[in-house]
Amino acid sequence: MVRPLSEKILLVGGGGREDAVARRLSEAGAHVYSFLKNRNPSIISLSRDYRIGPETDPAPIVDFALKSGIDLAFIGPDPVLETSLVEDLRSKGIRVASPDRSAARIETSKKFMRELLREYRIDGNIEFANFTGTDHLKEYLQQHRDKEFAIKPLGLTGGKGVKVMGVHLSGFEEAFSYASSVIGKDGSVLLEERVTGEEFSQQVFTDGQRISPMPVVQDYKRAGEGDTGPNTGGMGSISDSTHTLPFLSHNAREKALKIMEDVVSALRDSGNEFHGILYGQFMDSPGGIRVIEINARFADPESINVLHLLDDSLPDILNRIADGDLRKSVRFRNAATVLKYVVPEGYGYAPKPSALAISQEKPEKRKFIYYAAVSGELSEVEQSTSRSLAVVGEGKDIETANSECEENLKLIKGKFYVRHDIGTRAMIEAKMARRP
Ligand code: AMP
Ligand code: GLY
Repeated sequence: MVRPLSEKILLVGGGGREDAVARRLSEAGAHVYSFLKNRNPSIISLSRDYRIGPETDPAPIVDFALKSGIDLAFIGPDPVLETSLVEDLRSKGIRVASPDRSAARIETSKKFMRELLREYRIDGNIEFANFTGTDHLKEYLQQHRDKEFAIKPLGLTGGKGVKVMGVHLSGFEEAFSYASSVIGKDGSVLLEERVTGEEFSQQVFTDGQRISPMPVVQDYKRAGEGDTGPNTGGMGSISDSTHTLPFLSHNAREKALKIMEDVVSALRDSGNEFHGILYGQFMDSPGGIRVIEINARFADPESINVLHLLDDSLPDILNRIADGDLRKSVRFRNAATVLKYVVPEGYGYAPKPSALAISQEKPEKRKFIYYAAVSGELSEVEQSTSRSLAVVGEGKDIETANSECEENLKLIKGKFYVRHDIGTRAMIEAKMARRP
């Protein structure tokens, strides 16, 4: 059933991802009500009403939803999926196009994810081991001195808690010391076999049973040009007009989609039916496609690349997700995108926030600038210590989209850092040369 588009939709979250969601919702005629922790000027300007407050405290959000007569809710940030918000909203009769806490464990517990893949014999799993004490950890690392591991806290890290041997950690001592510190903090640590290859993000919409794919995106997590420095929430991202990426191996996308389908059915079968957006992070490794993470939400920045290209009604899609009625496949324009995040100077190390001016002189350019963890006005924002503005370029291929993105970046004035190497011809050519 296609519902009227004047629907009231609650959107939780105030980053670049949520700005992209708010734009597609309001363009399609939905009335957006937002709950966010920062005064994001773009989201606020698109909202009928809004509240500022902590996004992880469900009670005021439920109150706001009830007072506003909300029909449908959608949650952006991962920490919110760990609270009781989705269950609380549903218990008040509000439909939600996001997973409940039990289904969201696919992201909030990396152990749950690895065990689900193992139990249902889903392709792409990797060797992993979980430790709660340093004695066993030491023994394991000593026994596997010839191997390299990715060392991870079990829960959410904002992309920043994972350290990889041979990348961020060299040798046994550093690995043992970091893994021990994670145990000290969380009581537990996950060691995963280190895999190498091109990473890619495959996001899908799911109504609990069916999936509808979005274009593949590649996210650049490292703070520095040439993929150096610490991991961040994501410095930028690219997608191609083919909806896959030219440097991935044959059928990489199809294999990733099969894994996503299998995960959706395993979640359903195990009593954790998942409604919302599932975002798989994959590695195109010499041994095949490997699962790095499965997340229970839109990726940030990758969601902005794909929502920028969305050629369907987002309110309609979210209704269908909530109602278990996602029949048709969702359409996206066949264009390439390059996105670069404008961040405070020192981001990833010691961020120094300042003010940024955003030229409003060319109204046709406004749609390429998405507002993230900032507060203020559309024409002038205060940075926080997180990412500030996602600047997008769209074109017939990645190179053209990159030139557009660089042009659009000129609209921003002030002190900021941006990774200009993302989406350049040199970067794509280097990746093509390494293609399996
Ligand atoms: P995550 O927060 O788990 O997505 O990890 C952050 C980043 O660490 C990923 O994007 C990868 O680049 C890297 N990483 C995570 N797990 C592994 C792994 N098992 N092998 C190699 N790199 C990994
Ligand atoms: N792009 C990384 C994330 O959303 O987790």
